Amino acid sequence: MPVYSEKVMEHFMNPRNVGEIEDADGIGEEGNPVCGDLMTFYIKVKDNRLSDIKFKTFGCGAAIAVSSMVSEMAMGKTLEEARKITPALVAKELEGLPKNKYHCSNLGAQALNKAIDDYLRKQGVKVKTKRRRKDEQE
Ligand code: FES
Repeated sequence: MPVYSEKVMEHFMNPRNVGEIEDADGIGEEGNPVCGDLMTFYIKVKDNRLSDIKFKTFGCGAAIAVSSMVSEMAMGKTLEEARKITPALVAKELEGLPKNKYHCSNLGAQALNKAIDDYLRKQGVKVKTKRRRKDEQE
């Protein structure tokens, strides 16, 4: 069993912003076909800022902690600032992740980015479907 930091355990035991936003402005879903974990982010956007974020995650403890941390890090940020939340930053805020759990940190940033993409598309902005981030972790 992987050894988790206290921060990961704390977010896993008390995840922030769990749930769904019924009238979400953007929805982003990301999964990992290897482990089967699935993450969905719901966002509300006001004046180009993330005014509300909720998530639903079916996954391991690290994936839940990552979702919770991403939602906290992104809340209130502008869309551009939220896009700068990388898997490495999330892992750092969680005081590290076990090596075999690095991939869990990719899901959070990707799901949030997809929710932002979804929002922008609904605004008529052209966005590329899938972007791999430079710092994605194996
Ligand atoms: Fe796959 Fe955590 S084990 S997201």
